[in-house]
Amino acid sequence: MHKDVEKILLSEEEIRETVARLGRQISEDYKDKNLLMVSILKGSVVFMADLMRAISIPCRIDFMSVSSYGSGVKTSGVVKIIKDLDLNLEGYDLLLVEDILDSGMTLSYILELLEARNPKSVKICTFLDKPERRIADLQADYVGARVPDEFVVGYGLDYDERYRNLPFLGVLKPEVYGG
Ligand code: IMP
Ligand code: MG
Repeated sequence: MHKDVEKILLSEEEIRETVARLGRQISEDYKDKNLLMVSILKGSVVFMADLMRAISIPCRIDFMSVSSYGSGVKTSGVVKIIKDLDLNLEGYDLLLVEDILDSGMTLSYILELLEARNPKSVKICTFLDKPERRIADLQADYVGARVPDEFVVGYGLDYDERYRNLPFLGVLKPEVYGG
């Protein structure tokens, strides 16, 4: 375990099983479709890299980078596109791949933006779901695991841009946030 981590919520083994299950399910559901997996940088990168290799049907991937307006901790959901998708969405069955669905404000904004580009269908796959924190009227179609209302790091998720490289999902010791 890392010195800053208080407890592990999902071990590497549990994450592997979770991703394999999602991969099987998505491969089955999209076998007659035109799957395009899209993720928003940077938190979802680790999940995306594992999930795409757990998918046994042809698929494409694309990435988008956004930044939230304002500097507060609370997200308004309104975002500025820093890097847009490379692909035109028409004709694709879009699967948005997210690290964590929290308030859902950011994702609901992006969803609206991408739906306007006429993909054939749009669904959401999130590695983690924190349903207690939801503000936007939004649900994921595929959920890896539900987590309690605690700040989690690892497997792509950061605190102040750190800990993304931890291979497990954990909760930090309170003194790490204390400064
Ligand atoms: P939302 O708009 O509130 O749903 O924001 C979701 C984004 O906030 C995620 O994509 C993460 O980057 C970040 N986030 C939310 N909860 C956590 C957490 O527990 N750990 C790390 N990042 C988080
Ligand atoms: Mg973050």
